[in-house]
Amino acid sequence: MAEREEWGSRIGLILAMAGNAVGLGNFLRYPVQATQNGGGAFMLPYFIAFLLLGIPLMWVEWSIGRNGGKYNHSSLPGMFQVMWKHPVAKYLGAIGLLISTIIMIYYTMLVSWLLGFSFFSITGSYSQITDLSQMATFLSEFQNGGGTFFSSMWPAYIFLILTLFLNFYILSKGLSGGIEVFAKIALPLLFFFAILIAIYVFTIGTPDPVNHPERSVWNGLAFIWNPNFSLLGDSKIWLAAAGQVFFTLSLGMGTLHTFASYLKPKDDIALSGLATASINEFAEVILGGTIAIPIAVAFFGLMDAQVIANGGTFNLGIVSMGVIFNQMAYGQIFGFMWFFLLFFAGVTSTVAMCQPLISFLEEEFNFNHKKANLVVGFFIFVAIHLVFFYQKFGFLDEMDYWAGTFLLVAISLIEVIIFAWIFGIDKGFAEMTTGADIKIPNIFKFIIKYVTPLYLLFILSFWTFQSAIPTLMMDNVKPENVVYLWGSRTFMALTFIGICIMVNIAWKRKQKGTNF
Ligand code: ALA
Repeated sequence: MAEREEWGSRIGLILAMAGNAVGLGNFLRYPVQATQNGGGAFMLPYFIAFLLLGIPLMWVEWSIGRNGGKYNHSSLPGMFQVMWKHPVAKYLGAIGLLISTIIMIYYTMLVSWLLGFSFFSITGSYSQITDLSQMATFLSEFQNGGGTFFSSMWPAYIFLILTLFLNFYILSKGLSGGIEVFAKIALPLLFFFAILIAIYVFTIGTPDPVNHPERSVWNGLAFIWNPNFSLLGDSKIWLAAAGQVFFTLSLGMGTLHTFASYLKPKDDIALSGLATASINEFAEVILGGTIAIPIAVAFFGLMDAQVIANGGTFNLGIVSMGVIFNQMAYGQIFGFMWFFLLFFAGVTSTVAMCQPLISFLEEEFNFNHKKANLVVGFFIFVAIHLVFFYQKFGFLDEMDYWAGTFLLVAISLIEVIIFAWIFGIDKGFAEMTTGADIKIPNIFKFIIKYVTPLYLLFILSFWTFQSAIPTLMMDNVKPENVVYLWGSRTFMALTFIGICIMVNIAWKRKQKGTNF
């Protein structure tokens, strides 16, 4: 068995973990979710979810990961198995591998669009566009080919391949030589760009004080940040807030576990986990909250900014921002910084999503790093074509709903039960606090054992009735898209079966003693 990799330094580890968490979720998904859920009304449910789900699960996932690493397991099947001897544990862990792999497939394509727009921005390709509908056409023609701005899907395909290549190049260099080195460059740079843009946003103030005095950055900030308690009775807001906390912190994806498995048994979890969560929240609430919505309110007014956000993540992040940059001084440069920071934020997350499957092949099948990287790279390369060609028919949204939303919560419920009830909260808490550089208050024992699982159970039950069953039954789906949604489901089901078969083979080999 090859020697296990290690992180090069603590700061490198924290940056890699933060890079894993900081992504499109912080700068695009958060402002859209906040806007769709009443602006400031989102704040309280968001912070409660962060406190009762985000922070506890962050520590739980690091603990499950570091504990698994002690037994040479860097992916969830093995990690669950060492905490729970039941044969089903490893198959529950297989769900974790499925989640990271599926999200990796579609997320990489989204990230590649941002590389494309970094390029279009710096070269001035869309600089003549001044209205939202034209910019939406530019984006859609880029994604789907054909029209006045693009004659084919080739440009999108080239950016997709470049993005994939960058991911697997970083991964080929290994944990400390690739992921850590990249995070040390990408995170400071993306924070620098984001802070510059945020400062620039403040200088915009009220762009047209004579005709539209109400269209100001300040009104946008007030909308996003002023707590509003009148909508707290709406369960939709609580569910959206919890969903956002999961996505943004990369909880339930199996990626934090994998990174933590490369810690040494007595390395700190408490402070490092908290630092990761804090860096993510700074990027999300302070920077993510300051840029896209306030600037859209300043240029289009609050009503239209809400309409834009209702149009989705890329309607806000690409269409609206693109038009705004075209109206600003130095817009080409700021546009480039915006799209490039999103691109880097995305890549630090996608490399993390690939790592669990790579580690699984290395540790459970004795593949060397190069072979594991090539196999995973080839699989992702093939699978991404499905998303690339069929995203317009809802193929991607179906993956995002099941793997990127619903299963994140389901696997988190499973892991917290395994950790607090089967492994046992006393043993679990002892594991979590071993080597801790700060004291984790004892109240978290209670939270992790009772509050977090119950909270998750509520969310999951609500979602099942409110959205999972309608989504499963394909209510409100265009008839011509049905076949693609089934295609997406079949693909996910086959991937899951494939992972379960691999888990089964690996464990049988282990029993026979032929693996180690
Ligand atoms: N946590 C990552 C994000 O926020 C996946 O985009």
